[in-house]
Amino acid sequence: MSRGAVWREDVSLRPLTTYKVGGTARYYARATSTEDIGALVTSAPAAITVLGRGSNVVIADRGIPGAVLHVAGGDIAMSGASVVADAGVPLSRLARETVNEGRRGLEFMVGIPGSVGGAVVMNAGCHGRETRERLVGARLLDLDTATVADRSPEELAMGYRSSNVTERQIVIDATFHTRPGKADAATAELRRITAWRRRSQPGGSLNAGSVFKNPPEDSAGRLIDVTGLKGLRIGGAEVSAKHANFIVAADEARADDVWRLVWAVRRRVAEAFGVVLEPELRFFGEFEPCADREAV
Ligand code: EPU
Repeated sequence: MSRGAVWREDVSLRPLTTYKVGGTARYYARATSTEDIGALVTSAPAAITVLGRGSNVVIADRGIPGAVLHVAGGDIAMSGASVVADAGVPLSRLARETVNEGRRGLEFMVGIPGSVGGAVVMNAGCHGRETRERLVGARLLDLDTATVADRSPEELAMGYRSSNVTERQIVIDATFHTRPGKADAATAELRRITAWRRRSQPGGSLNAGSVFKNPPEDSAGRLIDVTGLKGLRIGGAEVSAKHANFIVAADEARADDVWRLVWAVRRRVAEAFGVVLEPELRFFGEFEPCADREAV
């Protein structure tokens, strides 16, 4: 077991998410391997919430009263076309390492800030590509039965930014298929995706990617933009002027600011277009009641 894989009390989660907001975990431990996950689940002092790279979550200011299992880091093993990555491996690292080893197909992941586990749960995607297209299968630990099972993309019911993985399941690792390819062309693709993101998304700021899923046949960013909400601000949270489906947080922002702005945006878009946007962001912990949320 790795050294960090012990339960600690009252640990701030703020540095562990891309928003850098939120409170503490009553109990916290970091797992970097399958072995760590198994041992920490067995010794968990309270109900477990799984945190990956924290690139798609808002942690409540009041924190999380239970046990936060932080699945971060791990190994990548390549054999022929098959690539097995631990759940905590960052997707950008997976993209770069497979390219460096002459394998193609995972380049799109360089544009996604999450980790392998989150990509399976959310069927993360970028540039018209989705995780399920490259996924052979994932291993899931079921917290209720303490069993590990292999699941194919079909069994995971992976849809647009969704799957059937529940909060009582932990992704342990995932296997992807790749194809052989020249590193030069793949590296150029990595550069193209990275440059596109810099141009069209508010990189460098505190954000968690797209706030809402795109509604069928439309784009959340477009709807929020034409509703005139770019620059709308609550406390330290603001609808990005660069891309309307991003909410950026100032250094002094609170989780509650992001929370209230999400529901204010949803309400205003629903009033303008009759479209009820569904958050892609996930909220962990207990938030204050919010009138805009109840109104839709
Ligand atoms: N648009 C506007 N105003 C804006 C932003 C966008 O009019 O302020 C319009 C754009 O002009 C474009 C359309 O909305 O016509 C779609 O925008 P964009 O191409 O930026 O893509 P998106 O649908 O907003 C999706 C993913 C991103 C992913 C990009 C690139 C979702 C919810 N988002 O964004 O994923 O990086 O495509 O592939 O599906 C994420 O999931 O966190 C994420 C960042």
